Amino acid sequence: MPPTSEPSVTQPNKPADPETPASGTATREGPPSDALATGGRNSSRLPNFYELPISERLSVAAQSAGIERRDADALGRFGALTPELTDVFIENAIGTFSLPLGVATNFRVNGRDFLVPMAVEETSVLAAASHGAKLARAGGGFTVTTTEPVMTGQIELGVAAHDRAAAEAALALHKDRLIAWANRGHDSLVARGGGARDLDWRWIEAIESLVVHLYVDTREAMGANIVNTMCERVSGLMPELFPCSIGLRILTNLTDRRLARAVCRIPVTALDTPEFSGARVAQGIERAWLFACHDQHRATTNNKGIMNGIDPVLIATGNDWRAIEAGAHSYAVRSGRYQPMASWQRLPAGDLEGILELPMAVGTVGGVTKLHPTAAAALRLMGSPTARELAGIIVATGLAQNLSALRALATEGIQRGHMGLHRKNLDLLQRTPPAAAARPSGGLDS
Ligand code: MEV
Repeated sequence: MPPTSEPSVTQPNKPADPETPASGTATREGPPSDALATGGRNSSRLPNFYELPISERLSVAAQSAGIERRDADALGRFGALTPELTDVFIENAIGTFSLPLGVATNFRVNGRDFLVPMAVEETSVLAAASHGAKLARAGGGFTVTTTEPVMTGQIELGVAAHDRAAAEAALALHKDRLIAWANRGHDSLVARGGGARDLDWRWIEAIESLVVHLYVDTREAMGANIVNTMCERVSGLMPELFPCSIGLRILTNLTDRRLARAVCRIPVTALDTPEFSGARVAQGIERAWLFACHDQHRATTNNKGIMNGIDPVLIATGNDWRAIEAGAHSYAVRSGRYQPMASWQRLPAGDLEGILELPMAVGTVGGVTKLHPTAAAALRLMGSPTARELAGIIVATGLAQNLSALRALATEGIQRGHMGLHRKNLDLLQRTPPAAAARPSGGLDS
């Protein structure tokens, strides 16, 4: 995305040609057919592509790539979204991509039952989440706690080393004014109890920069736009206070002031299986956790399993799963060593305790949460939770997923259950020619 001169909290995703200057002064290079002629078949040069109506974009792309009609039809489908809405959400849209949507059962969080919507393509994720939640339920379910929804924005200021002390003194002196300045224009957020709360800074010698951290309570919103807007606004005051050049101004996805933590205690007897005693299963799960603590390869797969639970809920509720992924993995390496995100330990009486704490910046307003009809309905299916409740349910789902995976891995292995469910996929594949068989010439590997 090119920089825009006046980013705004309320401005929706405005179609922006990656090749159009922010001033919007670009001129058309010609009609789409000219564009094709310019680029030719199999060319990715499609000038003015973004300006076309969504239906024309698809035919231009299909023509350029030389794909068959049925492929074009598959790309240009609209499920729950209308073409108009799709076109508003992203630039250069041609259609939508469908994922299965399921409901994980058995979740009890802070004494309340929840149905958890999950959008995911992977077999056995829903079954595993529901099974993990059932085991946790035997111990009363999940207890979750969350921090206030405080996001962190970063403002990088180039400051000569000899100006550093004066700059830090000016920041300390004008801190309240800077916070008040950040909140200007955000009256409704402030009225709802949110807004910029505090700021601090650190010196990075290697780039001779003071990096200011602005802490903003974004209430029900994930808040990226709010924080970025505030950072840009506040940075404008800095050169008036001390000599500096303005660098990057952007939130961090390591939202370590916006955390959610889930805990569950599984009675050892609930872990009994026909083949293994509960004590043996609990020991196996604890050992699997220790393996991940001491081995980065295993920790990575373990954490992928946790994100198997988390990402589908984020997707189903219209939240930014890339942001949560980035923050989760960064948090997992905060000690300097990449670690399993959740811990599993046996308590003195033999019961198993699991804990998962992660940065969890999710919203119930803003982004596409309210605009996407499926996301909005998914939130209602969960009983319209607040952003903090949603964050708690999501970490509980990650913990349930991890429990299920470790239980299977530590006992019968993952494949028995997984392949039982996966067989349906394989049967279907045998009856349907794989899409690759219909691929036209001109693929990347030709
Ligand atoms: C598969 O998608 C996820 C697992 O590999 C997670 C794990 O190994 O803990 C089963």
